Amino acid sequence: MSDAYSDRGNKDRSIANPDGQGSIIPEGGGTAKPSTDTAFLAGVDMTGGYGRGADILHDCTVSVDPGEIAVIVGPNGAGKSTAMKAIFGMLHLRKGHVSLDGQDITALSPQDRVQAGMGFVPQVKNIFTSMTVEENLEMGAFIRRDDIRGTMEQVYELFPILKDKRRQPAGELSGGQRQQVAVGRALMTKPKVLMLDEPTAGVSPIVMDELFDRIIEVSRTGIPILMVEQNARQALNIADKGYVLVQGRNAFTGTGKELLADPEVRKSFLGG
Ligand SMILES: Nc1ncnc2c1ncn2[C@@H]1O[C@H](COP(=O)(O)OP(=O)(O)OP(=O)(O)O)[C@@H](O)[C@H]1O
Ligand SMILES: [Mg+2]
Repeated sequence: MSDAYSDRGNKDRSIANPDGQGSIIPEGGGTAKPSTDTAFLAGVDMTGGYGRGADILHDCTVSVDPGEIAVIVGPNGAGKSTAMKAIFGMLHLRKGHVSLDGQDITALSPQDRVQAGMGFVPQVKNIFTSMTVEENLEMGAFIRRDDIRGTMEQVYELFPILKDKRRQPAGELSGGQRQQVAVGRALMTKPKVLMLDEPTAGVSPIVMDELFDRIIEVSRTGIPILMVEQNARQALNIADKGYVLVQGRNAFTGTGKELLADPEVRKSFLGG
């Protein structure tokens, strides 16, 4: 399977943000995980929780580079969604930082992160069910002032079924089709990086495979993809990089292949 995807990461940035060159702000001080400091998108040593509650994340580090699909797996409640929210600016970090394209964005609001090039598809409530498919895509482009039709055509090329159903309320679509709307909506901002929290939740294995194929296609346009997945084995199969999170901590990190071959990871997280 991996051979088929070995040419991933070409630099056709047609759907990607063209002015993605941001200036490099040098990092002060060292870190235990230096390799992430040059990563395109990185959450480094993230520690924090919700409101005044206990910390959910403990020195959690994840990163992704162009041409890569990075996958976060781990048990329910491990903090996978919390890590995504932290990277998107929806969680106060007591410690650690988030960087995008060389810029420290730890202090930015989620909306400013969208402006800076982040596309995020949350695990729940990721579409407007009473709006049509096309209105959802238009809403996705809310930060843009230029002509969005070209991007919409690209989204329809990626997900042809959405073009057929563009006048239908998104709430009438199947689970897999809704996830396509959600991913399409995020692509409408022409993001420099795409974050997906369980894009295949609740869909059949065949639809899951199709969604993964489309995600690989997006990755090939040059957009790095950071994704949480419950279908750990299948996701690690297409992952360049994998993270196993347990109780808010990095438990295992490696290439998708390495994690799939690791006896401990297999036994504890992949069902043997
Ligand atoms: N909005 C919230 N307020 C308070 N605690 C929360 C909130 N969301 C999640 N938590 C808590 O944070 C911990 C991690 O939850 P999180 O949703 O990040 O896990 P997850 O790994 O994404 O799980 P799943 O696989 O079920 O999606 C859990 O103990 C959960 O109860
Ligand atoms: Mg989750």
